[in-house]
Amino acid sequence: MSKRKLRVGLIGGGGIAQAVHIPGWNNLPEAEIVGVADLSEATARKAAAIAGTKEVFTDFHELLKLDLDVVDVCTPNKAHTPAVLAALESGRHVICEKPLAVTTAEVRAMGELADAKELKLMTAQHQRFTQSGVAARAWVDAGKVGEVYHARVRAMRRAWLPPSPGFIDGKLSGGGPCMDIGVHALDLCMWLMDFPTPVRVSGTAKTVFAKGHDMPNLWGEWDRERYSVEDFASGFVHFDNGATMVLEAAWMCHQPDNEELMAQLFGKQGGLAWPEATFSTATNGIFAQGTLTPTTQVPHPHWNEIAAFADCVLNDKLSPVPWTETIKVIGILEAIYASSNTGAEVAVKG
Ligand SMILES: NC(=O)c1ccc[n+]([C@@H]2O[C@H](COP(=O)([O-])OP(=O)(O)OC[C@H]3O[C@@H](n4cnc5c(N)ncnc54)[C@H](O)[C@@H]3O)[C@@H](O)[C@H]2O)c1
Repeated sequence: MSKRKLRVGLIGGGGIAQAVHIPGWNNLPEAEIVGVADLSEATARKAAAIAGTKEVFTDFHELLKLDLDVVDVCTPNKAHTPAVLAALESGRHVICEKPLAVTTAEVRAMGELADAKELKLMTAQHQRFTQSGVAARAWVDAGKVGEVYHARVRAMRRAWLPPSPGFIDGKLSGGGPCMDIGVHALDLCMWLMDFPTPVRVSGTAKTVFAKGHDMPNLWGEWDRERYSVEDFASGFVHFDNGATMVLEAAWMCHQPDNEELMAQLFGKQGGLAWPEATFSTATNGIFAQGTLTPTTQVPHPHWNEIAAFADCVLNDKLSPVPWTETIKVIGILEAIYASSNTGAEVAVKG
């Protein structure tokens, strides 16, 4: 008799769900999406058609009444927490899009509930599953970087501002580029640094271009009235091990590249830049540098992320992106906003 497939319920059937989560689950023979919930019935129906199910709901609590093993949350950021908590409360393992939540208090509430119920909880940080991410991690594991004393994180776009309300309305997103794309490069960088604990942050978050009409946007027009998040943020972070980090994030800025998403490590043994996967070092007084050879082919990082979560559920492994790591990432982003509001360096919550 064949083993029962993992039964997956999807909450939020919009852009990222249709583009990569549903195809990722469809790609796994050991799993099936059995229902979709979205505030918009039309969106739920569209997502359900791609997933191959007819079960659609406009209230996720109704979805949770189905026989489910896993819940996949792909709503706008601020709607993550109620959906994740309800799914965990009902005994389901949860994978949730980034940022898991916009405050450390919410991440802790989710994480402690998951732990108490012995459920898996994973933040969907797909950059860890990219070819360059895997190669960089292998280089760090081989001891080629050594103790990291400084890092740079950049998530800077020239003019790729996501126009939908789920991103530009702070009531739905909880933050601008800092939360949206800063979180990708920051998580990747922290992962390569082996997650030191952030202790103090000085930061700024401001809206430079998005309220005006001077900048073109590669993704078209957006609602200036509704726009209520930063379009640029920067931060300086101190870690408990003495390491430091500079972070910059923008949806709009004057730079020649359309997007720079990067993390750069400065270690005592060597330097490493992602996603270029370039390294530099010096041995016996001689400089050396080059590009890492990929250790694995990764055509679909998002699919690998979904597969890694299914594997951790099916084989009782540790979450590939545990909340104890995510809380440090969100702690830094939360502290950047807090520091920007107070004009002073702030302690990182956790
Ligand atoms: N990993 C990535 O590369 C990546 C890329 C884009 C977006 N994201 C993340 O994915 C999430 C969704 O982004 P998106 O671009 O798909 O947004 P979207 O607006 O296209 O889709 C979100 C959907 O959630 C639905 N929704 C909102 N509140 C809900 C609720 N309470 N219950 C059920 N459905 C609800 C909306 O109706 C909408 O259809 C965000 O957290 C975003 O940060 C990640």
